[in-house]
Amino acid sequence: MFRRLLVTSALPYANGPIHIGHLVEYIQTDVWVRFQKLRGNDCRYMCADDTHGTAIMIRARQEGRREEDLIADMQAAHERDFADFDVEFDNYGSTHSDENRQLCGEFWAAIRQAGLVKEQAVEQLYDPQAGTFLADRFVRGGCPKCGAKDQPGDNCSACGHHYTPIDLVDPVSTLSGAKPEVRSAAHLFIELEQLHGFLAEWTQSGDHLQPEIANYLQGHFLGEPLRDWDVSRPAPYFGFEIPDSPGNYWYVWFDAPIGYIASTQQWCRRTGAALADWWKSADCEVHHFIGKDITYFHTLFWPGMLKTAGFSLPTKVHIHGFLTVGGEKMSKTKGTFIRARTYLDRLDPSYLRYFYATKLTSRVDDLDLSIDEFVAKVNADLVNKLVNLASRTAKFVEKTGLSARYPDDGGLFAAAAAAGDEIAAAYEACDYNKAMRLVMALADRANAYVEENKPWELRKDSSQAARLQDVCTAALNLFRQLAVYLAPVLPKLARQTGALLNDPITRWEQSQAPLAGTPVARFTHMLKRVEEKDLYAMIEDSKQEAAAANAAASTPAAAVAQASPGGASSVQPVAAAQAAPEDRWNDGGDALAAEPLAPECTIDDFAKVDLRVARVVAAEEVPEARKLLKLKLSLGGGVYKQVFAGIKAHYEPQQLVGRLVVCVANLAPRTMKFGVSEGMVVAAGGGNEAFLLTPDAGAQPGHRLH
Ligand code: 2FM
Ligand code: ZN
Repeated sequence: MFRRLLVTSALPYANGPIHIGHLVEYIQTDVWVRFQKLRGNDCRYMCADDTHGTAIMIRARQEGRREEDLIADMQAAHERDFADFDVEFDNYGSTHSDENRQLCGEFWAAIRQAGLVKEQAVEQLYDPQAGTFLADRFVRGGCPKCGAKDQPGDNCSACGHHYTPIDLVDPVSTLSGAKPEVRSAAHLFIELEQLHGFLAEWTQSGDHLQPEIANYLQGHFLGEPLRDWDVSRPAPYFGFEIPDSPGNYWYVWFDAPIGYIASTQQWCRRTGAALADWWKSADCEVHHFIGKDITYFHTLFWPGMLKTAGFSLPTKVHIHGFLTVGGEKMSKTKGTFIRARTYLDRLDPSYLRYFYATKLTSRVDDLDLSIDEFVAKVNADLVNKLVNLASRTAKFVEKTGLSARYPDDGGLFAAAAAAGDEIAAAYEACDYNKAMRLVMALADRANAYVEENKPWELRKDSSQAARLQDVCTAALNLFRQLAVYLAPVLPKLARQTGALLNDPITRWEQSQAPLAGTPVARFTHMLKRVEEKDLYAMIEDSKQEAAAANAAASTPAAAVAQASPGGASSVQPVAAAQAAPEDRWNDGGDALAAEPLAPECTIDDFAKVDLRVARVVAAEEVPEARKLLKLKLSLGGGVYKQVFAGIKAHYEPQQLVGRLVVCVANLAPRTMKFGVSEGMVVAAGGGNEAFLLTPDAGAQPGHRLH
């Protein structure tokens, strides 16, 4: 009987790009979903960007734009990264959606109705200049215990002492550099303890959680009363205002998991399905995939919310460990904090999908990516064992096609078909490591068959034509069988195999019956060997990105650069988002009057100017020149240009390092007294003004402006 399954991965935050640590989870989930679909189950994969909270609000301010624009760009970048890694969602939404707002209201009404909400005053540090309460990570100060200076808001890096930001000695807001004040505000709390009995039973039932997670919850939380959960934040906050508590917003962690349902709701509207069939039906299983850091939210808060609001409880929460690289935590300075896009610029996504599959089990252990192991596994397993089966045989039957009857292969195909159930059980249990071991053991046997029968020798003897065709028919069928088993992990290889053998891979049962008498297409390259040097180049790219980002982030007051002093009125982007339409920007026409439009030009004229996104990787003053800064611009791919820009009066060199600009990249070089200028950076403004242009998030050095 086919199952109905609703599957989710944790919603990525909209304040940063997808990196290879995130991809452990998205690949793990995507493999599971593809496996379920291949088995014929009605399985849907929902995800969304997690868009609310202080971090997004602050970042939007820093970038001088509306939160809505920031999250739209970030979502587009996330979706591109996922698609390029072959992570395929049935719906990818946003927590900042009408569906989510409406569902949050529904959950909230049920939680109020159940008598779980209480109000309590909370004292917090408040930045009077930025006009916002400060989350822990936006405050630094002296440790109240050992006196170490410049410590973060939650615990001391010198003595390890835990405290709240209010305890810090001489605290400073990292947003504005201002001295924060202690202010009190009413917050709304959910009394989770009222659900203690239910949560103890649900978490300890043995069905929904990995045993180590159930034990951890019992040992750390369920042995004592559960703490109240603070689910509101006072304005300014980017999120949904609580309908019955004006001026307060749901905390991002309240609306984020509801986003799973909101994304499903979007999909239902698009496809005509009924939400209740997926979230309120005993016939549908709900599976969440998450990392171990967000266990508490998904195993205590979330089941509590679902239960109270009358939605299905998770059938299972699948929790994975963290990624380490070379045995260490991912590090920006070491270049091992690798963005999805940085990886894609150098390497084939199939490598990482396979590598992670070999490392993932149903346990919560961390998994390590070492370069040696990565190279060895990809080349030995995927290239030498797997793809070689096809590349060494397909060409000999390109003209004839497969034998009319499947030949005697000594029982290999039948034995591998019989292994299907064990492989399927391993996928089902998320033990991909075992599934990959089983498949590679079958690949070894198939390779031994090819080695023994030597098709490259048979082809030299025309009397052996029929045997050659039989050997290749067996080898290609064994290859196809493995491609079916690996289709959840290697969807691209499955597509290529389907094209080679004129039979698209869509069902697990295709592993159970061989093809015979069917045509074989011309063999085209499937997967190239991975080169160690490409991995090192990728790490070098990451180091440079991190250095550039670091330099760009080094202006402490950036967050309030556009804000006028004085409380909430300084929150420009939020206010603008709510203001009246067209003329809320108050765009005067002075600049246009001062410099009227140039004479018309044609598109061909315009196309002669090659404008490119570039990153400032170095900037220094030219002491002998009153107006000039010397910039080194990276156009990506190791291409650099030296440019002298007349912006000395407007920018400090250090402010520029790391930021993206627009460069006229095909301007004829000009020899100046101080050196050759190989281009120009584009700036707005006339007379004594200069405002450099910056592209939206997602643009990369080298992108052309069209
Ligand atoms: O930890 C995170 O990155 C969160 N954005 C995950 C949210 S998962 C769900 F609750 F929405
Ligand atoms: Zn200390």
